[in-house]
Amino acid sequence: MSKKIKKIGVMTSGGDSPGMNAAIRSVVRSCTHYRIDCIGIYRGYQGMIEGDFIELDARSVSSIINKGGTILKSARSDEFRTKKGRKKAHEQLVKAEIDAVVLIGGDGTFTGGMIFNNEFGYPLVGIPGTIDNDIYGTTFTLGYDTALNTIVEAVDKIRDTASSHNRLFFVEVMGRDAGFIAINAGIGAGAEEILIPEENLGLERLLESLKRSKRSGKSSSIVIVAEGDRTGDNVFELAHYVEDNMPEYEVRVSVLGHMQRGGAPSCFDRVLASRMGLKAIELLLDRKSNLMVNINDNKIGTTDLEKAVKGHHKLNEELIRVSNIMSI
Ligand code: F6P
Repeated sequence: MSKKIKKIGVMTSGGDSPGMNAAIRSVVRSCTHYRIDCIGIYRGYQGMIEGDFIELDARSVSSIINKGGTILKSARSDEFRTKKGRKKAHEQLVKAEIDAVVLIGGDGTFTGGMIFNNEFGYPLVGIPGTIDNDIYGTTFTLGYDTALNTIVEAVDKIRDTASSHNRLFFVEVMGRDAGFIAINAGIGAGAEEILIPEENLGLERLLESLKRSKRSGKSSSIVIVAEGDRTGDNVFELAHYVEDNMPEYEVRVSVLGHMQRGGAPSCFDRVLASRMGLKAIELLLDRKSNLMVNINDNKIGTTDLEKAVKGHHKLNEELIRVSNIMSI
């Protein structure tokens, strides 16, 4: 990268996550600190294609550190998947004299960024923002901690009613490809079983385990099911199967859905966003590109964007063991 960076764009893309606003704020204020201009790109890649830009300064991001969602809005753009769409996006960036962009998002956002960089050599740095925590190269993504706290609070409430009625609850949580949310929220909420995409327990073993819990004196149970789990076709089918085979239990299903993505970011996510935003700007000013900011061992570092996209963030096996022993 040779051109001097004078103006940096920032955008949020894909599923929103709490902490994205705190990251936008950090990017904008870091730009102010280094005396460079900052431009907000609305609606992710779609806004880039349409030139939907706004000038941002330190005051435009006042009072957003505590807000969920993203002030820049988010979208999943089909047009950006085409070469024609990406060419339009590049033309808009050049026209607005935006020299580099900070991408805040997940897997899909980074894949798009990687292709864009390969085609145009355009400077990009990514900040991992997704509640799923399924990005390779970083221990935490923005929004994951907040989502876990939201889920644990919801499951605590479900447990109150489950135990009053001696019921078995299946609670579906987000995570279409990964069980990070399910395993951690499950341990945190004291779930009896946790079903994740990485490990197919099988219907028979699930039934056996629930029967064992019942025999051991439990009068109600909570089963956390990751959206991407394949033990049954879906959480409702799973619940029917268990109800048919355990008539002693009244079974209910609760799908937490998009409430998991909203709400004020936790302190952890706000601090992480502030650290990652500053790092992203310093990388670009240092003429670095094609990197994702990460956090490992509480140190902010980087992973190649390509590795972040192609690598597989593995679940910590120790968590599975902890959950099995705790649910005795
Ligand atoms: O990637 C984040 C995520 O919340 C997933 O856990 C979930 O499967 C998906 O987004 C839902 O996407 P949408 O908001 O488009 O329905």
